Amino acid sequence: MPRVLIWDLPTRIFHWLLTIGFLISAAISVTADNDSPLFSAHMILGVVLGAMVLLRIVWGFVGTRYARFTSFLFSPLSLMRYVFGALKGSEPRSIGHNAGSSYGIFAMLGLVLATAGTGMMISAGNEAAEELHEIVSYSLMAVVAVHIVGVVWYSLRHRENITLSMLTGRKESTLNSTNG
Ligand code: HEM
Repeated sequence: MPRVLIWDLPTRIFHWLLTIGFLISAAISVTADNDSPLFSAHMILGVVLGAMVLLRIVWGFVGTRYARFTSFLFSPLSLMRYVFGALKGSEPRSIGHNAGSSYGIFAMLGLVLATAGTGMMISAGNEAAEELHEIVSYSLMAVVAVHIVGVVWYSLRHRENITLSMLTGRKESTLNSTNG
């Protein structure tokens, strides 16, 4: 089966830097004191991750085929079809993002921006933003957890190592694959 390039280099670099940055930043937030020197690393990482998401949004308009938002903008109806298909075990394999992961991706991009934005508001002295920052950051952690469970589930269900594809960029092309 031919292996074709699906995830371009900028998308892969973005994904793994986002993963590493998110893990370090979350670990600092639950272990370090707000006034410890380590906490400045948490704040710097937040700004960097927010800027990376802004670049990813630009790439979603000008990047290669599967990085573009048009390739994974699914209607709510396709999402429902995907979820019901998955429950019956008959959902199609996707060569790009599938309807389920697409909604998760938009949620993660939005929540990273909201987390970075509310974090900057706190640094600027806005105490009211503290609660909001907590809500959006815990929501981000929850969506990331669902994302990882989804990746494991999809990999087992389709017997396909999609984590490796996010590293190499390549996936097996099959005739019955869909792309939204
Ligand atoms: C070790 C943990 C992780 C693994 C194995 C993993 C794996 C993957 C895979 C396989 C995809 C492609 C999904 C698809 O086929 O539609 C993907 C996409 C994505 N993941 Fe993860 N992921 C991990 C952690 C994270 C974390 C922590 C975040 C966010 C903080 C994240 C955010 C994203 C985003 C935004 C995309 C879309 C990539 C793009 O198109 O730019 N992932 N991930």
